[in-house]
Amino acid sequence: MREYLERAKLMGLSIGFVPTMGALHPGHMSLIERAKRENDLVVSSIFVNPTQFGDAKDLLNYPRTPDADYELLKQHGCDMVFTPSVAEMYPDQSLIEMKFGDLEKVMEGAYRPGHFKGVATIVSRFFEIIRPNRAYFGQKDFQQLAIIKEMNEQLKTGIEIVGCATMREPDGLAMSSRNIHLSFEERKAAPVIYNSLLLASELVRINEPEEVKHTIIKIIEALGGFKVQYLEFVDSLTLKPITKWQSHADQRACIAVITSKTRLIDNVAI
Ligand code: PAF
Repeated sequence: MREYLERAKLMGLSIGFVPTMGALHPGHMSLIERAKRENDLVVSSIFVNPTQFGDAKDLLNYPRTPDADYELLKQHGCDMVFTPSVAEMYPDQSLIEMKFGDLEKVMEGAYRPGHFKGVATIVSRFFEIIRPNRAYFGQKDFQQLAIIKEMNEQLKTGIEIVGCATMREPDGLAMSSRNIHLSFEERKAAPVIYNSLLLASELVRINEPEEVKHTIIKIIEALGGFKVQYLEFVDSLTLKPITKWQSHADQRACIAVITSKTRLIDNVAI
């Protein structure tokens, strides 16, 4: 991988990198297409990273569709796919020792201890091997994007981190590899997550954050099958929870919802 890319760099070609855990869908393809527009070569990785899963069952059940993935990547003009083994990426058990302060304490960080350490470790290893000019991440994982930007700042890699808009199904559900685990009934009900976040962004005009939270959680949980693990209104840069609306700050509503077999996250600007 290094040799091939070194040659490309010597020829003056720019490299765009799209890391994934496979089970690819049109959301991933929008990252590939953007990388394609902005770089000479596009490299993607497919690696289900064990160190970012707290729960062994979640890791085991994570969808794996390699043949369909390669086909999709080929169709969308991805130039190279990197699919290392766990032993290659983790020759020892060591994880990156980085501190992300409050960024890693809230939301996903609070409910999935160690998750961001695993993400930062694997992404930094990919960055070292591939040394792209730009790397592309979806905004659906809003907190992950913030952590990767911070990691990138601390490591001074010089790589440009590009955050890309969340791709949605026609009914509004954020595209995710985990949607495959929704039952028929849950899939039908799932757009309530995005729709109620949109409602929250309207309610900010008349209600305080705690009141909006209460209303939204009630709407989502009234459907029976869903449990809201968290709904947070945060400052988009620091991810610090907001207890009073700030008229000029960039604010975000972030949510995690538990269904019978999986867990979905989403977020919108407020
Ligand atoms: O967002 C993902 O799919 C993963 O967290 C990533 C960035 C590929 C690291 O394993």
